[in-house]
Amino acid sequence: MSVMYSSITKKIWMSLMGLFLMIFLVVHLGINLLLLFDPTRELFNEVAHFMGTNPVIQMFQWVLFAGFVIHMFLGVVLQIQNWIARPKGYKVKASSEESVFSRYMIHTGIIIFVFLIIHFANFFFKAKVFHSIPEFVLDGTPTGMEDMGILVMKLFELPEYVIGYIIALLVLGFHLDHAFQSAFQSLGINHRKYTPFIKGFGHFYTIVITAGYIIIPLFIYFSK
Ligand code: HEM
Repeated sequence: MSVMYSSITKKIWMSLMGLFLMIFLVVHLGINLLLLFDPTRELFNEVAHFMGTNPVIQMFQWVLFAGFVIHMFLGVVLQIQNWIARPKGYKVKASSEESVFSRYMIHTGIIIFVFLIIHFANFFFKAKVFHSIPEFVLDGTPTGMEDMGILVMKLFELPEYVIGYIIALLVLGFHLDHAFQSAFQSLGINHRKYTPFIKGFGHFYTIVITAGYIIIPLFIYFSK
């Protein structure tokens, strides 16, 4: 019973952290999309500067980091517990209409983790650790802000980076498509009337997020 209880507790934490990460993905996408609407990069750089310097956001960054760590750690632990409980790969279906993606959550999760490391190396570390981002100059005037936008544009001019990014985002899409409904199941929200809506909204969210992120490198690459 205590093992079961602890598994349920883990699932609840995992789902809450996962839903929190899903909200973060919306905010991050909103900021990235600014690059498409302002070729001067002023808007994007201003928001990036705000996000990188505002003390509240800086504190929130650690909450986000903790959210990722908790989600990943519990995901791996739950998966290992599952493998130990069902060593021959025998899978008990939690629901009669589990999607194919549900079987590959740990695999898609690990690919997302690798993508996150690359993403951190390309942006976060350059900005925060190495301070190697050029200053944003607008109409010949230095602004005192980092030109994060040019960093993104330069990376998305490389075909290998664009392809890798698109693949990573598709994998994230597979993770999210099952994740949304699964999180509600873990929280015990399972209702004949509302569950179809939750599933439908999960698909809608996944399509908007995946397509939204993918449009950006394609737009930059093909308009260079
Ligand atoms: C932005 C990134 C991510 C988001 C938004 C996200 C979101 C979610 C959500 C909402 C769930 C459903 C939780 C539940 O079933 O209660 C989930 C499940 C899962 N996630 Fe993630 N996740 C992300 C990244 C990762 C990473 C990096 C890993 C690495 C190990 C991972 C591993 C898993 C696993 C194994 C499950 C299935 C857990 C289970 O069914 O017991 N996720 N994810």
